[in-house]
Amino acid sequence: MKAAALLVAAGSGERLGAGRPKAFVVLAGRPMLDWSLDALAAAGITDVVIAVPDGHEVAGHVCVPGGATRSASVRAALAAAPAEAQAVLVHDAARPLVAPDLFRRTAQALEHADAAVAAARMTDTVKEAGPDHVVQCTLDRSRLWAIQTPQAFRRATLQAALDVEPDLLARATDDAWLVERAGGRVVVVEAPAQNFKVTTPDDLRVAELLLGSSPAHL
Ligand code: CTP
Ligand code: MG
Repeated sequence: MKAAALLVAAGSGERLGAGRPKAFVVLAGRPMLDWSLDALAAAGITDVVIAVPDGHEVAGHVCVPGGATRSASVRAALAAAPAEAQAVLVHDAARPLVAPDLFRRTAQALEHADAAVAAARMTDTVKEAGPDHVVQCTLDRSRLWAIQTPQAFRRATLQAALDVEPDLLARATDDAWLVERAGGRVVVVEAPAQNFKVTTPDDLRVAELLLGSSPAHL
């Protein structure tokens, strides 16, 4: 299946608080989104659409204005993906340590699924607690996965999943949830620990250390 990548980079980066959109914050000497663009190129994925904030077009790439929510940005990017792409790989520019192999493995997993999502096994024990902080139960960690990107979809599946009411779209923190609710088969693809999302200034420091000290991480 021919695959295109949708790189979502239109968030404002409020929690990072760097004074500019997160994907454009300099990380180990380059705008954060460049690391993901390199990994995509190394994975052989040449069709890339980037959802960007106003005034942040990236030279040499197809860019579209992002939406008010992450899913709206995905939808805008999907609309600009080349018609011949039957599979799409959605990736957060906020995960700059993504390895090319993870793009390949999520795309391959689509063979037997409607969506395939990068995910990390939970290492902490997870408990459910009420608003009063009283623990209700402890979940079975062996079955729990923390969901990341890349997320691979059959194009028609993603198109249909995103074609929902705006409030539902706004509630979707990951696009695969929209596929699940529609009864689709979603599989997890185990990701390496380094594929974390840069959310806070501490995360940025860790990413800086990993990328700065190991330029050969790819
Ligand atoms: N994103 C996007 N459009 C939006 C919101 C988010 O393209 N309207 C992208 C971000 O650029 C990021 C990814 O979705 O690559 C994951 O979102 P998140 O980590 O929440 O980034 P921000 O929304 O930028 O950060 P914050 O929530 O702290 O403002
Ligand atoms: Mg956000």
